[in-house]
Formats: sequence, C-alpha cells, structure tokens
Amino acid sequence: MTRQLHYGTPAKVFHWLVVVLLAVQYPIGWLMPDIHRGMQPGVPMTLHVSFGLTLLVVIVLRFIWRLTHPVAPESTLPAWQRLSSEAVHWMLYVAVLATTLTGWLFASFRGWTLTFFYLFPFPMLASDNAAAGRVIDGLHQAAEWLLLALIVIHVGAALVHIYVYRDRIMQRMLPGEPSV
Ligand code: HEM
Ligand code: HEM
Repeated sequence: MTRQLHYGTPAKVFHWLVVVLLAVQYPIGWLMPDIHRGMQPGVPMTLHVSFGLTLLVVIVLRFIWRLTHPVAPESTLPAWQRLSSEAVHWMLYVAVLATTLTGWLFASFRGWTLTFFYLFPFPMLASDNAAAGRVIDGLHQAAEWLLLALIVIHVGAALVHIYVYRDRIMQRMLPGEPSV
C-alpha cells in the first residue's frame, strides 16, 4: 500500500481526540477513591470505566485507520529519528490497548454492576474473581505508567522539534497542513 506524505483530517481528529480522552482519564484515575474489599463503585468509577471504554473503541478505530491509510515519516529526518518515532508510535498504540484491556478485566473481576455513562449496563468481560483481580490490578497500574512514560518521550520529542530543530514536524499533526 502506498504511504501518504501527510496525515489526513481523520488521523488528526483521532490523534487529538485520544489526547483529550487521556487528559480526562488520568486525573479521574488518580483522584477517584482507592478500592477496598466489598466496596461499590461510585460516580468517579462509572466515569472512569466509561471514558476508558470510549478510549478503547477510539484507539481500535484509529489503529484500523492507520493500517489502511499509512503515512510515511517526514523524509528530511535522519534514519534514527524516522525509526525511533515509528517505534514509539507503535508502542503508544500497544500501551493504550494494554491499559484499557487490563482496566476492563480488573473492573470485571470485581463483580461490579456498572453502567456506561448511566445510559446502559456496562459490558463485563468476566465474573467475580478476587485472586485474578489482584494480579490484573498490578498490570493496570504498570500499563498506565508505561503509557505515561511513552507519552512523556513522545511529547518531549515534539517539543524538541518545535524549539530545538525548529522544523515542521509539529505542523504535520495540526490543522492546515495538506491532507493528501
Ligand atoms: C487508557 C485508559 C486508562 C487509563 C490512562 C487509566 C488510568 C488509571 C489510573 C491512573 C488509575 C489509578 C491507579 C493508581 O493509583 O495508579 C486507574 C485505576 C483504575 N482503572 Fe483505569 N485507566 C484506563 C482505562 C480503564 C478502563 C477501560 C477500565 C475499566 C473498564 C479501568 C478501570 C480501572 C479501575 C477498576 C481502577 C481502580 C484500581 C485501583 O484503585 O486499584 N481503567 N486507572
Ligand atoms: C500534547 C501532546 C501531543 C503532541 C504535541 C503530539 C504531537 C504529535 C506529532 C507532531 C505527531 C506527528 C509525528 C510525525 O509523524 O511526524 C504525532 C503523531 C502521533 N502521536 Fe502524538 N502528540 C501528543 C500526544 C499524544 C498522545 C497522548 C498519544 C497517545 C496515544 C499520541 C500518539 C501518537 C501516535 C500514535 C502518532 C503517530 C500517528 C498515528 O499513528 O496516527 N500522541 N503526535
């Protein structure tokens, strides 16, 4: 499949939508009350799992879009930057998937009854299982920190391109760049 030179509008919309959803999701995760045995989920947990499921759907759609509309790295970049940026982009997809799936499994093993934004019952992947829940809780936290580390690297690289190299990498993901 031939690779396009620029990100199209859908790729840009998906990119910034995921940024907004993650900017909502992390604070809810950190601020919501810690979980104790026998506790029932409140409003923050309902919002956390609902935004989390939305993120999972959006990242899967975005990944399908990326596979069917591949974009070449900026040709003026040195080979090591083209390779490392592509590697970090792939790892970002994997880390978002891992964080959402471990979170969903953890919520499922609690045996809770939740709703998706109070609209309809939240689909669960498994039934009550305290032992499995303890294992998967650690994995959700590991995935969430791995994702955060990748985001720091990714955003740090974008800042270096803006302020050190002063090239047009940031413009590739902003509105206005040709969508060919
Ligand atoms: C990329 C998406 C997600 C991010 C960034 C995220 C982030 C977080 C964060 C920061 C915490 C707090 C844990 C800590 O203290 O370190 C947390 C806890 C939790 N998350 Fe997520 N989460 C995501 C998706 C999900 C999904 C999809 C679900 C369920 C459907 C979920 C269920 C939970 C549960 C049940 C907890 C409580 C764990 C505990 O307090 O021990 N998360 N999440
Ligand atoms: C303020 C925060 C962010 C900035 C400034 C930013 C900037 C950029 C830029 C400039 C590109 C284009 C790089 C190129 O190919 O030349 C890009 C691509 C990309 N970004 Fe971000 N980004 C941010 C946050 C995030 C977050 C939170 C994620 C988490 C999933 C993410 C995931 C990606 C991915 C996967 C690509 C590759 C394009 C694609 O696969 O659709 N970005 N970003």
